Amino acid sequence: MTEPAGMRRTYHRGQLDESLVSRTWLEQFHLWFHDATADPAVVEANAMQVATVGADCRPSVRTVLLKGVDERGLVFYTNYESAKARDLAANPYAAVVFAWLAHERQVRASGAVQRVDRAETEAYFATRPRGSQLSAWASAQSSIVSSRAVLERTLADLEARYTGVDIPAPPNWGGYRLAPDTVEFWQGRADRLHDRLRYRRAGERWVLERLAP
Ligand SMILES: Cc1cc2nc3c(=O)[nH]c(=O)nc-3n(C[C@H](O)[C@H](O)[C@H](O)COP(=O)(O)O)c2cc1C
Repeated sequence: MTEPAGMRRTYHRGQLDESLVSRTWLEQFHLWFHDATADPAVVEANAMQVATVGADCRPSVRTVLLKGVDERGLVFYTNYESAKARDLAANPYAAVVFAWLAHERQVRASGAVQRVDRAETEAYFATRPRGSQLSAWASAQSSIVSSRAVLERTLADLEARYTGVDIPAPPNWGGYRLAPDTVEFWQGRADRLHDRLRYRRAGERWVLERLAP
């Protein structure tokens, strides 16, 4: 095994400067997201890790895909009866991180989370490939299943049931929007003296702050 303590890379690809970053977190996010999606070296540029904390006060983290972003926040879709949904019902705050390591970049955001409107969920669900639509029905996400065969049988039954007709969004499936009150952009620099610029909501306005690396 490679000894992790000996693994070391020098970061040199870019820098972040107060005078050069965008006026809003959203514009800056768009710039970096564009860079990430335009580069085949960044796999699944819209993958982000979402951390939640449930009633038991234990944090839990998993990857989801960003499916929308605007001034209201960051949207992802999931099962409303999953472990993360239970956490969010008990404590409607989350943190996300994008690690665009090929660009030596990280973006973190945190804030309150709400379900998206049902109409928005349904509009997005309608764009999903049929197989993904059926799997949303087939999977009681985060529950224990006795075997893969059980899931595949359920999927086959659903395929038969919905042959030739549109598949509606399952009632227990939909979007969440994280409305950030902080968004931090991190750019790796030489000698671990990295750049960290954070947009922080302060009442009606946003302030930009540099954080020590
Ligand atoms: C690349 C990638 C993308 C994923 N996208 C989603 C997603 O958009 N929505 C989702 O519910 N789970 C997604 N998952 C699965 C989650 O990481 C997780 O296994 C699942 O949501 C159950 O999490 P929970 O038990 O904490 O609720 C993705 C996993 C990976 C590795």
